[in-house]
Amino acid sequence: MVSIQVHDKTFELLIPGSRIREKIRGMAARMNEDLKSERPLFISVLNGSFIFSADLFRELTIEVEICFTKLASYQGTASMGRTITSIGLDADLTGRTVVILEDIVDTGRTLHEFLPQLLQQGPKKLLISALLSKPAAQQFPVKIDYPGFSVPDKFLVGYGLDYDGLGRNLPDIYCLKQ
Ligand code: IMP
Ligand code: MG
Repeated sequence: MVSIQVHDKTFELLIPGSRIREKIRGMAARMNEDLKSERPLFISVLNGSFIFSADLFRELTIEVEICFTKLASYQGTASMGRTITSIGLDADLTGRTVVILEDIVDTGRTLHEFLPQLLQQGPKKLLISALLSKPAAQQFPVKIDYPGFSVPDKFLVGYGLDYDGLGRNLPDIYCLKQ
C-alpha cells in the first residue's frame, strides 16, 4: 500500500492519476456531445478545483468559455444563518448554459447555497460537474449532472485538494489512514 505523510497525518493511495485522467476523458466526451451547440460557460470553484478544471478544459473540443470564482462563507447572526458570497464572478449568466466545476461535493452545503444565487441571474441551464462526491456525507440535495468518482466519507488530499494548505500538487488522490 502506497502511503504518504502530509503535516502530521498519514494518507493512503485511493485513486491513481492514470484513473483520474481516464475518468476526466469520459466526462469531457459526454460534455463535448451534450453541449456542442451551447457554447457553455464553465465556472471553476477555487481553490480546490483548479487542477480538475485545467485537465477537463483541455479535453473539451467544443466552443467553450471558462471563468473562476472563490466562495467565502460567513456565519451571520443566528437568525441569518450562514451566507455564501462569491468573489470575482463578473460573467453575465443571462441565457447561458452554465457548468459549475467542483473538486468535491461533501455535505453538499456549498453548492446548495450557491446555486440559488446563480439561478437569480437567469441562466438557460445550470449544470454541475464534480470530480468527487461523498454520498455517505451528503446532507443537502445536489444533483450532479457530470459526476466523476463516488468516494468513501473520509478526508482526501491530492489533485487540488489540500490538508491545511498542503497536498494540492499530488498527482494522485489519497485518503486519510484510520
Ligand atoms: P461541502 O459544502 O460540504 O459539500 O464541501 C465542499 C468543499 O469542502 C469542497 O469544495 C472542498 O473544498 C472541501 N472539502 C470537502 N471534503 C474534502 C476533503 O476530503 N478534502 C479536502 N477538502 C474537502
Ligand atoms: Mg471546493
